[in-house]
Amino acid sequence: MKLAIPKERRPHEKRVAASPDTVKKFKQLGLDVVVETGAGMAARIPDAAFAEAGATIAPNEKDALAGADIVLKVQRPTAEEIPLIKKGAMLVAILAPYADKEGIAALATAGIDSYAMEFMPRITRAQSMDVLSSQANLSGYKAVIDAAAQYARAMPMMMTAAGTVAPARVMVFGAGVAGLQAIATARRLGAIVSATDVRPAAKEQVESLGGTFVAVIDDEFKQAETAAGYAKPMSEAYQQKQAALIAETIKKQDIAICTALIPGRKAPVLISEEMVKTMKPGSIIVDLAVEQGGNCPLSKPGEIVEVNGVTLMGHLNVPSRIATDATALYAKNLLNFLTPLVEKGGQALKIDAEDEIIKGTCLTRGGNVVHPSVK
Ligand code: NAI
Repeated sequence: MKLAIPKERRPHEKRVAASPDTVKKFKQLGLDVVVETGAGMAARIPDAAFAEAGATIAPNEKDALAGADIVLKVQRPTAEEIPLIKKGAMLVAILAPYADKEGIAALATAGIDSYAMEFMPRITRAQSMDVLSSQANLSGYKAVIDAAAQYARAMPMMMTAAGTVAPARVMVFGAGVAGLQAIATARRLGAIVSATDVRPAAKEQVESLGGTFVAVIDDEFKQAETAAGYAKPMSEAYQQKQAALIAETIKKQDIAICTALIPGRKAPVLISEEMVKTMKPGSIIVDLAVEQGGNCPLSKPGEIVEVNGVTLMGHLNVPSRIATDATALYAKNLLNFLTPLVEKGGQALKIDAEDEIIKGTCLTRGGNVVHPSVK
């Protein structure tokens, strides 16, 4: 079977769906691997590295995709790319089905069997295939590095002959995968860190990283985690209590890292315009939730804006800002997903439609949209 890795074409995307390491492993599975020329360039992977790993380099996307049985991508294909993929091919990518229902319908019409990696069930067996975790972890790290670079002060406390530099106070909103890495990174840089979340499990995790947990702990909080491990949308009453607590805390912060999300919904607003006005000049807000509407209504997608001396950073596609590592981990997630599906010798795929991982991720099959949450 032929496995194709085209260059990503959507704006702000620097990652690619394979690394030389995964190409080597796919070759060992018996697959013919074709990489489009320049596919790894933005992630600092030259064609030669893919070729050395055993891939054939195609001169353009059409040739890369022609006749491919398996197509690996980072982002969903564009309307121009879909016709280049053969009917019956397997497509594995982050498909953003809620953002682009028409795009998913087009995949079904084209007879492409597509798998949305962001729908990977959070079960032990699938941990090594979990692209949301691998990418969010790097985003959390990068958010703190971005904030530190923009911040006109130092992060750690420094006692010098010329005087003492106070440590930065960092507050992390949402202590999931990105948030926990943000806490760990800010701590490593010497900041005083606190964090808030609505899931009870987050308290111990924040504290184990040396952060202070700040949250409204009531009956609703105790039930806020879904069976899938995600947060539920909170009631109006809870949101009001939470806002009062955040308003009190945020005034004293230098840096806020926003990571709070609810799958398939708009991100919760946690830092209001009024709260931003109470922050000290020179403070920084990095809003990783900006593409889902933002945890702060003042942050703007793709922009760095200043309001009353507070800088709000709304970088798009933060994993792409650390593209080499993001690619390595994403590519590995895809390798782990695909390996059990390839028959010995690489001649065919063996897909059990009833398997929890397949059921969880398969969006389109045999010309139809099959995923219950997208149908
Ligand atoms: P996410 O990206 O959907 O959300 C980020 C964080 O925002 C979550 O911790 C969520 O509780 C929090 N949040 C949502 N609404 C909020 C609000 N109104 N106020 C404050 N915080 C709010 O979640 P993520 O990071 O993808 O995963 C959440 C958890 O799932 C992880 O911490 C982990 O415990 C679990 N997980 C389990 C895995 C597995 O078992 N294979 C793999 C990855 C994560």
